[in-house]
Order: sequence, then structure tokens, then C-alpha cells
Amino acid sequence: MIPDLPGVDRLITEFDRALRAVAGVHHAERPNPSAGLPEAEMSAESRDEAAALMRVNHVGEVCAQALYQGQALTARNPDTRESLRKAAQEEADHLAWSAERVRDLGGRLSLLNPVWYAGSLALGIGAGLLGDRWNLAFLAETERQVEAHLDGHLQRLSVEDARTRAIVETMRDDEARHRETAIGLGAAELPSVVRSAMRGMARIMTTLAYRI
Ligand SMILES: [Fe+2]
Ligand SMILES: [Fe+2]
Repeated sequence: MIPDLPGVDRLITEFDRALRAVAGVHHAERPNPSAGLPEAEMSAESRDEAAALMRVNHVGEVCAQALYQGQALTARNPDTRESLRKAAQEEADHLAWSAERVRDLGGRLSLLNPVWYAGSLALGIGAGLLGDRWNLAFLAETERQVEAHLDGHLQRLSVEDARTRAIVETMRDDEARHRETAIGLGAAELPSVVRSAMRGMARIMTTLAYRI
């Protein structure tokens, strides 16, 4: 008889999640916000720029998957774990939508996705090991920075590109809610030196992801 191994099941589920995130084959639960909107007539330059920005966003979502995965694995409080699980599902929608949009725009996903994923998983587990308050603090700050970053993309995207904009706007609104949830669950305030280090890391990541 085959023994019941829930630990192995969980590991396989998590591994499957990781592979899907890296390969860009996630399925969204919510409809794509760009559905039903017309494709804009854009110059090749605007289109390439939008594809590169959405590649950067997809990388951000790959990292979000790994961060949430790492944090959910280590969170102690069941309420925290449940909130992380719910936010992670919305992040999975973002992952699917941004990958779809990159492909629609004729772009490709980042070749470095496995690297982003592994690094973020380690960070998520590290933050989780510090305890729920710091885990949530890290999450709240990440969401705040992503929200600001998406606002920056809305400035750069062509005003005619309604499809890309609809996706980015929905993602930004979700990230704001994730930040508020983390704060509501008792996130600590991160020291400013940590916040600056996170901004520095995000800058390196976004610069690389824009190109590779
Ligand atoms: Fe997201
Ligand atoms: Fe988020």
C-alpha cells in the first residue's frame, strides 16, 4: 500500500506552482481586465515599449509568487496565512494577465525568471522566519513600491493603449489593497535603510528585466 504523504503532495503542488510561474503558464481566476477593449493602433516603438514594461511587470509577478509562497510557508498565524493565500491568488491573476499581454504585444518573457523566482523565494522565507509582524512589514513595503512602480508605468504607456492600461490599473488597485491588508494584520514599520535597500534591489531588477 502506498503511504499517505501530505508533505510530498504539498511539495509537488508548490513545485508545480514555481514551474508555472517561471514558464508563464498560469491561469487567471478573474477575467482579464483588457477583455472587450479594442487593440489600439500603435507605432512599433510604443508597442515594443509596452511589451518591455509588461515583461518587467511579469517579472514583478513572478517575484510576488515566490515571495508569497515563501511567506505562506513560514507564517505562524492562521489569519495571516489565509490573507496571504488570498492575495497570492490575485497575484496569480496578475501573473497570467501580464504574460498574456506580453505575448499579445509580440514580446517575450524574461529569460532570467528562474533567477528572480529563486531569489524572491529565499527573501520570502527569510522575512517569514523573522515572524509575522516583519513578514507583513516586508510585504506591505513591497506592495507599496510595486504600486508606485505601476503608477510610473501608467505615465509611460501610450494613452491609446487601453488594453495594457486596464491590466496595469487593476494590478495597481489590487496591490494597494494587499498593502492595506498587510498593515491591517499588524505589519511593523520597516527601518528606512531596509526600505532603501529594497528600492535599490527593485531598480536593478527592473532595469535588467526591461532588457533581458
Ligand atoms: Fe501583483
Ligand atoms: Fe500584491
